[in-house]
Amino acid sequence: MSERRAVIAGTGSSLPERIVTNADLERMVDTSDEWITSRTGIRERRVAGADEPMSLFATRAAEAALAAAGVQAADLDLVLCATVTPDMPIPSTACIIQDKLGAKKAAAFDLAAGCSGFLYGLTVAERFLASPQYDTILLIGAEVLSKYVDWKDRTTCVLFGDGAGAVVLKAGAPPYGVLASMLRADGALADFIHVPAGGTREPASEKTIAERRHYIRMKGNETFKMAVRSMEEAARQALDRAGLATTDVSLFIPHQANLRIIDAVGTRLGLRPEQVLINIERVGNTSAASIPVALDEAARSGRLKRGDVVLLAAFGTGLTWGAAALRWGT
Ligand code: ACO
Repeated sequence: MSERRAVIAGTGSSLPERIVTNADLERMVDTSDEWITSRTGIRERRVAGADEPMSLFATRAAEAALAAAGVQAADLDLVLCATVTPDMPIPSTACIIQDKLGAKKAAAFDLAAGCSGFLYGLTVAERFLASPQYDTILLIGAEVLSKYVDWKDRTTCVLFGDGAGAVVLKAGAPPYGVLASMLRADGALADFIHVPAGGTREPASEKTIAERRHYIRMKGNETFKMAVRSMEEAARQALDRAGLATTDVSLFIPHQANLRIIDAVGTRLGLRPEQVLINIERVGNTSAASIPVALDEAARSGRLKRGDVVLLAAFGTGLTWGAAALRWGT
């Protein structure tokens, strides 16, 4: 039988309506538009409302991806949601989305790999699609990190945004689809980006809330250096496994954590600015949603053409990192 490749048949995304600008943040914490823009490249981000859970944006992104792919929810074999900000601890938000979509025959589960979640999900979906039991998979990357952020902590609250991106993956044939990927993790560095309390190790209590231990904490500078090195290494390995060089890349879509990280990785890979997609100025760091949101923007704006080589790379909490190379088209 001929090789079954995971091809992207449709993309979708959804962002909250509310925009929080750097000027808005100047009124909340001791920061400045100049600091945020020069250190991160972020000018504004989208923030969910009090009654807007992650599944709302995930479902909207999924519906857009299904429509773009011409696929009915009832035909999905698997709903996979990459997230670290589920609607609730139990059950998985993928099951909530599966119900909202009416994906009656689909299996559903969440996958937690932080900002690398979409790339972990892509590799998992690709392996499922190698089996003839799975033909059509919905992969979502969605986060509402604004609800895990300490809005009194200027070192983190300026960085993150909310949103969701989704792709419908189908079993297709070469030359299109996922060509190669690589994933890595280093749990010894888990405290670089973490939420200390609220899980089974330290359940939420009056004390953890008083100590603000239910909010995200990050060693920004250490994370920055590790992100640049790891994303470059992952991108090179994924290309190598695909038998490609950086000169073959039509579009590089890196995780949007910091413009300086993106620029440094792009320069180290020898990519020209027009080969690199950047949307961080409008959306901030949307963690697992970052790559699928950017991918959807590229697909809808006509920036991606059939046959293009697309390189994806991400780095995030865990620590986790990875990259994937794919040929656009079905
Ligand atoms: N406004 C003004 N000053 C600030 C702010 C702010 N919002 N935040 C920090 N500062 C100050 C610091 O207090 C520090 O002051 P000091 O020198 O008096 O102590 C100074 O600015 C420099 O701080 P650094 O942390 O060294 O600044 P840096 O240049 O490293 O930028 C940043 C910080 C933007 C966080 C950067 O390190 C970064 O982007 N790191 C990577 C983040 C990342 O990739 N996260 C990945 C994934 S997240 C996930 O998986 C969910």
